[in-house]
Amino acid sequence: MTALDLSSPVAVVGTGTMGQGIAQVALVAGHPVRLYDAVPGQARQAADAIGARLDRLVEKERLTATDRDAARSRLRPVGELAALAGCSLVVEAVVERLDVKQELFRALEDIVSDDCLLATNTSSLSVTAIGGALRMPGRFVGLHFFNPAPLLPLVEVVSGFATDVTSATRAYETARAWGKTPVASADTPGFIVNRIARPFYAEAFAVYESQGADPATVDAVLRESGGFRMGAFELTDLIGQDVNESVTHSVWRSFFQDVRFTPSLAQRRLVESGRLGRKTGRGWYDYADGAERPEPHTAEPAEPPAYVIAEGDLGPAAELLALIREAGIEVRERDEDNGTRLVLPGGGQLVLADGQASVEFLDVVYFDLALDYRTAPRVALSHCRDTSARTVAEATGLFQALGKKVSVIGDVPGMIVARTVARIIDLAVDAVAKGVATEEDVDTAMRLGVNYPLGPFEWSRRLGRGWAGDLLEEMHEIDPSGRYAPSLALYQYACATPDKREDTA
Ligand SMILES: NC(=O)c1ccc[n+]([C@@H]2O[C@H](COP(=O)([O-])OP(=O)(O)OC[C@H]3O[C@@H](n4cnc5c(N)ncnc54)[C@H](O)[C@@H]3O)[C@@H](O)[C@H]2O)c1
Repeated sequence: MTALDLSSPVAVVGTGTMGQGIAQVALVAGHPVRLYDAVPGQARQAADAIGARLDRLVEKERLTATDRDAARSRLRPVGELAALAGCSLVVEAVVERLDVKQELFRALEDIVSDDCLLATNTSSLSVTAIGGALRMPGRFVGLHFFNPAPLLPLVEVVSGFATDVTSATRAYETARAWGKTPVASADTPGFIVNRIARPFYAEAFAVYESQGADPATVDAVLRESGGFRMGAFELTDLIGQDVNESVTHSVWRSFFQDVRFTPSLAQRRLVESGRLGRKTGRGWYDYADGAERPEPHTAEPAEPPAYVIAEGDLGPAAELLALIREAGIEVRERDEDNGTRLVLPGGGQLVLADGQASVEFLDVVYFDLALDYRTAPRVALSHCRDTSARTVAEATGLFQALGKKVSVIGDVPGMIVARTVARIIDLAVDAVAKGVATEEDVDTAMRLGVNYPLGPFEWSRRLGRGWAGDLLEEMHEIDPSGRYAPSLALYQYACATPDKREDTA
């Protein structure tokens, strides 16, 4: 099954933000494109806006003037749905309402030929439910583009229960012919990206709600230690708190209020107060002219310890030993089979976040997971009130001697990066086990759809297959609400091969 022929006309219905972007992609790829919108004049305005964007591409020398002129001549706004007869593909990007979409596709079926492919760009409705209204639901598929569609490469090609393989394959190949990177997804709440990405926001908000750290500190740790492009607070301010919250609610409701997808009370209050993010001038942060961006917590300089005693295998943090030696601090290695930690000269312990709280132990400071300890500019530490000042100072001085900024947060089990990554891995493994997508497509989707530095499976191979499950089990013990309960799929995944780090670097 091949992609649609470039001479085949493509229709875009609903010419707002997404419709315009999708139309531009199909147009630049070479198709004749027809635009239709329910609001009179909107399709014409959209055509003008697309034309202006093509002009900018010519200015930036990404499109020749000849190609722009040819593209413009292929673009046709129409005033009637009936004018879409003869199209080979209709992509719908109207308002996110099931009844509106169903009614639209029912009307379209009476207009287009039986071999016309029908696609929805819905981000949160069930493709199966929309297609359920159709006489021929086999030719109905989800084509989920990301905003801005001309720039972001990912397209989730979603098969509903009734979608036939030839239609899904044709949609997939067409997206690829348009220069996109398609991934195949089953029809599941949130598809791939919006399902697996939920903990990225939820865990950051949970740390904040538990008074563990303020937004600026959480964001800095996610960026500078976790390697994420943006922190969860600044990213949701960019997306819009209302938009982000509505996706979270939709996924949570669609999973029958599964506790693992519980929305955040703090975000609810933010939305209720009208602080929707950049678009309203205020969200988690203040965007008013001259408003100062709060600084993340960064510890004052502390004396590094003269030596550390390394006990056991530090697992994902093993690289630290080389860094400590390079910083001129002696590392004494001691074989221990009852734990993995760094023992400081004062007797306190430094342990990689493992899902336990430091209050459970005598004199422990936890340090957070980093994507790469060598290059991470910041590392977070957590401790409880009983941790001695000497241990906190020695732990702080140690990481500072490695050239890191140190953010000290509250006694947060699983800290910030570690609990976020563990939950993302769990949801990814669970999704693959439930047939949502392949491991490879999940990794591609998370890297391209939300810019994660590594796909969840790549990350898991680096950390060791058992790492996420071990951490979540500890967290589940402390918080038995089910939010952190590792999935059965994660358990099976961890058991499938020996628990060793499969360093792919
Ligand atoms: N904005 C995003 O980031 C994003 C990303 C991926 C998917 N989506 C999905 O894309 C779809 C469109 O979102 P958007 O952000 O472009 O919305 P938008 O509000 O910018 O545009 C929607 C357009 O649809 C038109 N419309 C409404 N009902 C119609 C109908 N019955 N027939 C024809 N036109 C109709 C409206 O007049 C409007 O121009 C939604 O399903 C949304 O979930 C949005």
